[in-house]
Parts: sequence; C-alpha cells; structure tokens
Amino acid sequence: MNNQVPLLDLQTQYNEVREDIRAAIDDVFASQQFIMGEPVRSFEQAVAEYSDCRYGVGLASGTDALTLSLRALDIGPGDEVIVPAFTFYATVESVLHVGALPIFVDIRPDTYCMDVGQAGALVGPRTKAILPVHLFGHPADMTEVTELASRHGLKVIEDNAQAFGARHAGQVTGSIGDAGCLSFFPSKNLGGCGDGGMVVTRSDETASRLKMLRMHGWKKKNFPEIVGYNSRLDTIQAAILSAKLPKVDQWNERRRDCAERYNGALKDADLVLPCEDEGAHHVYNLYVIRVGKRELVQQKLNESGIGNAVYYPAALHELAPCSGFVRKGQRFPEAERAAREALAIPMFPGMTEAQQERVVNTLLASLN
Ligand SMILES: Cc1ncc(COP(=O)(O)O)c(C=O)c1O
Repeated sequence: MNNQVPLLDLQTQYNEVREDIRAAIDDVFASQQFIMGEPVRSFEQAVAEYSDCRYGVGLASGTDALTLSLRALDIGPGDEVIVPAFTFYATVESVLHVGALPIFVDIRPDTYCMDVGQAGALVGPRTKAILPVHLFGHPADMTEVTELASRHGLKVIEDNAQAFGARHAGQVTGSIGDAGCLSFFPSKNLGGCGDGGMVVTRSDETASRLKMLRMHGWKKKNFPEIVGYNSRLDTIQAAILSAKLPKVDQWNERRRDCAERYNGALKDADLVLPCEDEGAHHVYNLYVIRVGKRELVQQKLNESGIGNAVYYPAALHELAPCSGFVRKGQRFPEAERAAREALAIPMFPGMTEAQQERVVNTLLASLN
C-alpha cells in the first residue's frame, strides 16, 4: 500500500469532471477558435454571476488580474498602495509593475491576513488604494477594509487568488471591493490546466478599461488608445474551467470537512491550527499550521512521504525588490514569525479519511 500522501492531488477532482472537460476541449477544437469567443464570454458571465458582480474579465493570470486592475483604477507612478507584509510575492509585484509604491502592513497572527487596524496610521495624501489578500482561503476583514477605504477615499482591490468561494459576512470575496482578482492556477480552488485569471467588478468603466488593457489597449483592432498588454484567458482554459465551476462549492465543502477533521484530531497537539474568524467562510486553499521546530517537523514528514510546503519562506519586506519600501521605524513581527513557522499540510477535496489519519499520526509523532 502506498503510504505517501501528497500535499495536493487533483486526480480525483479531474475524474469527477473528466467527460465534461473532454467534451469542452473537443468543442474548442471543432470551432478552431482558440482566442476569446463564446467559451470565454460564457465563463466570464458565469463567474460574474457566482461573484454577484456585473462583469468578469478573463485574463492570462492572477498576477495580470492584479496589475491590470491597478491600471484600470488609474493607479500608477507615485501612488501608494497598502498591502499585507505576508502574502505571495505577486501581490506586491503588481504594485511595483505599475510604478506605485507599496506600503506594508503587518498581518494578524490568527488569520494571516492584513491587520487592517494598523493601516489607518499609514495613509497619506498619496495613498490611493488598499489591496487586502484573502490568504490561504480565509477572507481578510473586509468590514474594516471598507470602512478605512471610505474614510480616506481609497480604491479596494481584493486579491482573491486563494479564496474562490469564500465569504465575508455573507458576501462572496472578490465582490466587496472595486475589483476582485482571481487566479486559475491549477492548485487554486477553481484551477485550470495552466495559467489563467479574471477580474470581477460591478463598474462599467473598470470592466471596459480592463477589456482594453488585455487587448493591447485597443477597442478598435490595431488602433490602441492606451498602452496595454496581451493578457487574455485562453479559450481552452475557459472551456475547462466552465466544466469545473458547477462543482466548486461542493469541492470547497469537502475542503471544509477535511479542515474540521484535522482541527478535531490535532486540537491537543503542540501547534497552532488555522482559525475561522466570526462571519468568515474559509475555503482552505491551504491548511496551514504553525510549528516552532518547523525544519525538524518537515524532515520527519518528508521521511514518511507526507507532503508539506512552506507558504511563504520570507515576508515581503525581506525580498530584494521590496526592501526599499519599509518606512522608518516600521516592524513586521507577525509577518516574520509566519514566515518562520507556517507550514501547509496536505489538503485537497478528494482526500480520504485514511490519508488524513496518516498525516495526523505522522505529524503528532514528529512533534515528540
Ligand atoms: C495570493 C496570490 N496572489 C496572486 C497570485 C498570482 O496568481 P497567478 O499565479 O495566477 O499569476 C497567487 C497565485 O499564484 C496568489 O496565491
């Protein structure tokens, strides 16, 4: 018997929708339309409806979703954007790409999301936007974000790459701010077979700017009005993702069931478990624990074939392209501690109870 448990196994997910995916791919080949077309339009519409937004604009990646959202909202050189100090690098990379200046804010130790309470004191006349991240599948505190943004007239761009289907106070994440950025990277809760992304928004103007930006900055072919990008969601990815979308809530529920079982089995262990804030609906893109002796635990898990990974090994302000943006006297103790202690253990919708038991037993043994 194979005792190994991968960090992520998408095979069972694929098996559930295999026929639909194959039919969708066949349709794309039959039409010979590989760029844009009906599959992209209908997928955009479906995601917009799911997200309670008027528009979905398919793009080449989640990173592009962030960059193009900033451009669409007219955030550029010299503008400041508030970002959490602990997230995937692409969050801040988008800010740097448009020439804006990131303002780092420490995270909450329980949810790993931005500690919005610390952001108010950092807002100045050049601050134009706040970019909360729904990290690991847990929504950032959007009540606080919205309050801060309306107090200071900031745009809100949600990095919803890891939290498709999550909710904050009953609202779908991505639908709360001015733009919600999605990634369809294969490991995401709604993942494709390659790169892909989308922005959801209620604003006609933002959607129309995004559509121009993704297509070389033009509305009329070959007549660009602004400097844009080539950043479209591939037709074949849209077709595949359309086949998966109807299942995503069910898959998220299975992730939540897995999390509940882990929470029960590990509750007395010497580690910190993920939390679910009041009013939050966590979708566990990753199940992340905190362990003091992380390297030792990783070594033991690796020896037993139990998948694990560090998300993320450094806080943003510790990365080379970001180091110049720390303000005098600023400290990020929680972001740095998370970078030292956070460890993701296996989590995927098709995970069996037997697999979970193996993870739990190995993990508990590794703590002794
Ligand atoms: C929090 C976060 N933001 C942004 C991205 C970027 O998405 P992509 O890989 O599709 O460019 C990712 C995913 O990789 C992510 O996890």
